[in-house]
Amino acid sequence: MTLLAVAPLFFCLPTFFVGAIGPIKVDIQRSDGLCALLVNPVGGYNCAEYSVQTDDQFLIGVQRLAIARHASESKGPVLVLHGILLGGDVWFLNPPEESLGFMLADKGYDVWIGNTRTTRFSYGHTSYTKEDEGFWDWSVDELAKYDLPAMIGLVQNQTGLKPHFIGFSQGTQQAFAAFSEERLLDMVSKTVYMAPVAYVRNVHAPISQLAASAYIDRLFQALHIYEFSTSYRKKEVVDIICKPTALGCYRTFITAFTGNNCCLNFSRRTFVDSYETQPTATKNLVHLAQQYRKKNFAKYDYGFLGNLLRYGRFTPPAYDMSKVPTNNAIFIHGGADALSDTQDVLDLFALLPDGGRYKVSFLPEYAHLDFVLGTNANRLVYKQILDFLDS
Ligand SMILES: *[C@@H]1O[C@H](CO)[C@@H](O)[C@H](O)[C@H]1NC(C)=O
Ligand SMILES: *[C@@H]1O[C@H](CO)[C@@H](O)[C@H](O)[C@H]1NC(C)=O
Repeated sequence: MTLLAVAPLFFCLPTFFVGAIGPIKVDIQRSDGLCALLVNPVGGYNCAEYSVQTDDQFLIGVQRLAIARHASESKGPVLVLHGILLGGDVWFLNPPEESLGFMLADKGYDVWIGNTRTTRFSYGHTSYTKEDEGFWDWSVDELAKYDLPAMIGLVQNQTGLKPHFIGFSQGTQQAFAAFSEERLLDMVSKTVYMAPVAYVRNVHAPISQLAASAYIDRLFQALHIYEFSTSYRKKEVVDIICKPTALGCYRTFITAFTGNNCCLNFSRRTFVDSYETQPTATKNLVHLAQQYRKKNFAKYDYGFLGNLLRYGRFTPPAYDMSKVPTNNAIFIHGGADALSDTQDVLDLFALLPDGGRYKVSFLPEYAHLDFVLGTNANRLVYKQILDFLDS
C-alpha cells in the first residue's frame, strides 16, 4: 500500500477512535498489587488488577472490586480517584467499615479504583523509567487529557456502562479540567467532588504558601529534580524528623501541609506511612505553584515562546469552570481544609452554571486528610455519597 492510500486512514483515526483507549491488561494474581496487599486479606471481595495504556504511553493501574456475594446484582460501576501525593490505596487504609473502597462494594457497586501515572499501583510507561525526565514531564493538564479518559474508557470498555465519578482533591481538578473542555461529559453518570480543588488562590497550608512564594518549585526544576517525593530512602521524611513517640511533632507536620485534621487516628501512623505518600512530578507542583501565584486555574505556563508554540498565544488558556455541568453533582468540603480552601470553593461555586442545582455539604471541622483517613468519614462523608448515588 502506498503512503497516499493509508493517509486518509490516519486522518480518520482521531474522530473514528473518540474515546478509544490503548491496550488493556488484566492480571488478577499480581502479588505486589493493591488487591493482594489490601483487599484480598480482608476476604469476601473479587478483586482484579487492570492496566490501561494512555495515549502518551503511561500504563495506568486500575483495580476493580465487588463484594463476591453481590456480583450478579451490581448497582453499576463507580470510578474513585485519589488526590495528589496519594494513590488508590488510600481508599482502603482504614478498617473495612470505615473505608470508602470497601463501603461502595458492600453497597453493591462495581468499584473501580484509579491510580494516576507514577503512583505506586500504576505500572510505569512503555519506554520511560523512573530515571527519565520524560517520566515526570506532566502536570494536571496531562492527568486530565490522558489518565482520566483512559480510566473512564477502561470502565466503559469492560462494563459497557457509564460509571459514577468520585474524585478527591487533585482527582476533582482533573475532572474539572476535562469537563470544562466538554470532554468525557457523556461518559460519566453522577459526579462527587470531595475536597474540591479548582482554584488554589487561598491555600493556607503554610508550607505550600512559603514554597510557592519563594519559588522553591523553580529551584527544584533548575536543579533538575524531576521527581518530587516526601520520602527519603524508603522512609517518610515526617518519620525521619519526628520520632515514633513524638505525636505533637507529627501532628504539626501534617497540619502544616493539609490543615488541622480533626479526626485522624494517629495510632495507625506506621501503617498509613507505609503506603502514603507517593511521589509526584515536580512539574505538577510547579503548575500548582503557578496557579497559586497567578490566582487562576489555567494550563501550565511554558513562558512566552513555549506558550506560543503550544497554545498559539502568549499566556496559557484558563479552564472555564462555567462549562462544568453540575446537574448531577455533589460537592463536599471542609472548613479546616488548608488545600481545598473554603473561599476557593466558594469562588468555584460562583462560577459554576445552574447555581443551586447541585448539592453542597460543608463539614466545618474537616481538613484535607479527614476526607480519606478520618475515622468518622464513613458517617459524615461516605454515607452521604452512598445516599446521593442511590437517589
Ligand atoms: C474494549 O477494547 C478492546 C480493544 O482494546 C476492543 O476490542 C473491545 O471491543 C472493547 N470492548 C468494548 C465493550 O468497548
Ligand atoms: C485507632 O487505631 C487503632 C489501631 O488500628 C485501633 O485499635 C483503634 O480502635 C482506633 N481508634 C479509633 C477511634 O478508631
